[in-house]
Amino acid sequence: MKKTVLVSGGAGFIGSHVTVELAQAGYNVVIADNFSNCDRTNYNGVCEILGEKLPLVEMDFCDAAAVERLFSEYKIDACIHFAAYKAVGESVADPLKYYGNNLKSFLNILEQARKRGLNVLFSSSATVYGEPEKLPVTEQSPRQEATSPYGNTKQMCEDFLRDCVAAYDGVKGIALRYFNPIGAHPSALIGELPRGVPNNLVPFITQTAIGKRECLSIFGNDYPTPDGTCQRDYIDIVDLAKAHVCAVARMLDGKMKKPYEIFNIGTGRPVSVMELVTAFEKVNNLKLNYKFAPRRAGDVTAIWADPTLANEELGWKAERSVEDTLAAAWAWEKKLAGK
Ligand code: WQD
Repeated sequence: MKKTVLVSGGAGFIGSHVTVELAQAGYNVVIADNFSNCDRTNYNGVCEILGEKLPLVEMDFCDAAAVERLFSEYKIDACIHFAAYKAVGESVADPLKYYGNNLKSFLNILEQARKRGLNVLFSSSATVYGEPEKLPVTEQSPRQEATSPYGNTKQMCEDFLRDCVAAYDGVKGIALRYFNPIGAHPSALIGELPRGVPNNLVPFITQTAIGKRECLSIFGNDYPTPDGTCQRDYIDIVDLAKAHVCAVARMLDGKMKKPYEIFNIGTGRPVSVMELVTAFEKVNNLKLNYKFAPRRAGDVTAIWADPTLANEELGWKAERSVEDTLAAAWAWEKKLAGK
């Protein structure tokens, strides 16, 4: 019997790629999304890649009655929760928007988990590590006090899941801490669709290259790193999506070593902003208009993962090179521009 996985936020950037990998691995997938921060492009792209129309429930996870109806209607074996707001700056300006939405929606899912004994996978973030004292970071590295309400919701949701797993029979949980997800599906049918001016580096690069933005500002070239620019662990979106398939299989096949587990999802390879820009220019054979600008408030100097636990326990490893990923990101931007 095929198992059914619910993907909340399944029409978004990460959710759509995860949906494709789950379906291709043989799971039934139910997508639920309220389209508050995306349109139908990725949902349509998912259906085109898979050659079938996946069930789509348009709903808000803050609506407890709607969540109850969803779980009564479908027999869900595992739930992956992506539906959340994700802009760091906006969360500082409007914390109640973030606390209201990101916490309430997850509590409604956990309520169903308590009632029905669910497997829950939470999409967490490397942001929980703050500015690490030691690199690379392992799952044992201490979490630092969050510097934004967005980051705080990630920490709080991890704790909600840990406590519910400890308290309620039959509830199991995995938190995946993503480093910096970038790129797009090789089909160029799904990808990142930022609204307005992108906050994140790669969409800003591709929009500058296509001519939508005049110039990329590299925030800070006086950091204590080899070339003075910040270092991150950029992880290909399809590689990241595959980690979810491994984690879901681990939960559903009874392979978990503890009922609540945490895994870093990264490559283990630090890449600086300057290195990323240079790699983008080289692999796509173009010149990017960029300038150095002051540091951005809140940025950490450097962070990258020790992915050993995920490699060994999930049997998962990041495979794509940063060049392949940047070529896919560029193909997606060109597709959006109709080029
Ligand atoms: C990467 C690097 C910037 C834009 C954020 C969130 C995190 C996570 C992923 C999201 C930094 C530099 C960027 C630009 C630049 N969760 N940069 N010019 O900040 O590592 O992580 O996104 O859902 O919680 O904080 O990612 O892509 O914004 O920045 O120089 O125009 O690129 O300073 O060094 P970040 P990012």
